[in-house]
Amino acid sequence: MSDMGNLRSVLDEGGYSGRRDATPSDLAVAALGVPLKVLRACESGGHQLAGNLLADALAGLSSSPKRLPSKYFYDARGSTLFERICEQPEYYLTRAELAIMRDHVGAIATALGSNVRLVEYGSGSSLKTRMLLQHLESPVAYVPVEISRSTLMESVAKLEHEFPDIEMLPVCADFTHPITLPRAARAPRRTVVYFPGSTLGNFAPSDALRLLRQMRGEAGQGGGMLDGGVLIGVDLVKDKAVLEAAYNDAAGVTAEFTLNLLSRLNRELGADFDLAGFRHRARYSALAGRIETSIVSTRAQDVHIDGCSFHFPPDESMQVEWSCKYTLEGFASMAARAGLRVTEVWTDPARQFSVEWLVCK
Ligand code: TRP
Repeated sequence: MSDMGNLRSVLDEGGYSGRRDATPSDLAVAALGVPLKVLRACESGGHQLAGNLLADALAGLSSSPKRLPSKYFYDARGSTLFERICEQPEYYLTRAELAIMRDHVGAIATALGSNVRLVEYGSGSSLKTRMLLQHLESPVAYVPVEISRSTLMESVAKLEHEFPDIEMLPVCADFTHPITLPRAARAPRRTVVYFPGSTLGNFAPSDALRLLRQMRGEAGQGGGMLDGGVLIGVDLVKDKAVLEAAYNDAAGVTAEFTLNLLSRLNRELGADFDLAGFRHRARYSALAGRIETSIVSTRAQDVHIDGCSFHFPPDESMQVEWSCKYTLEGFASMAARAGLRVTEVWTDPARQFSVEWLVCK
């Protein structure tokens, strides 16, 4: 079924090298759930799929308060910087999730069961995915859903080599829109959607709920013997100082990552942001239960993009990203509203992060 030639021929990557961290603004991007088989038909959708940096930047800077869409974080430099964020001592999320996988992957694989069709939102090149694929009992197929064609192709090429017996069915699509899943050669017992990294937290609550409902729908497409399910990484509410440190690492990598958004607008749109006039800020709102990342103007200044001028008074901030944190109860009640029941929760010893197994109710 997997037809790599087909995939290679289409959808040249636009500016948007989407990782897992698609955000609410992605909901505005074209609705293209594109199984591999029909990718050829979607060539013209490539630009829409890539989003529109100029239109989104102008709209965000014209709104009040000003905003910039975080989905544009992940160009090549942003992706490299994000990998470095994951290695920072303060950024506990990646390490905690990996520790959970290391300690509990056997139990996780048992919960998911044998002959699973594993769908992953994101490219699936990570260690977590490989651990899961290694431990699952005769998985039927692996279906990564990724908006960036080059990222998708690279990860599938690696996994195909490592797991020659698992059918690879890559789908080049924006996972925030419903997808018709490709059929595997062998019938699965169940379909599992894997969504690691606490990326759900980057969505506003109503969009997170919508996305969970959509995952439930996709997990239910299997027609297997068992109900579908969702395996998801969820970051937990914790001490404000720990949270704020994670998003303000001492080495300044997160700040560089955030400000790269402005560099990107300069590079790709000919904007004239003076990077020395802006700073990264990440603060935890206990009330909202989320880290709010902004870019703050350190002085009065004007910025120009495409003939438009935008004024920044000193200390004006632009909102760029939310990272919502959950309590186990809060997450379970949101999952329930999406028609999913939390049946197992694995946490790291310090209970910083959780990996949760949800089944369709
Ligand atoms: N999904 C990641 C998170 O919410 C993305 C991220 C890490 C991020 N550090 C960031 C987003 C800093 C914006 C700013 O943790």
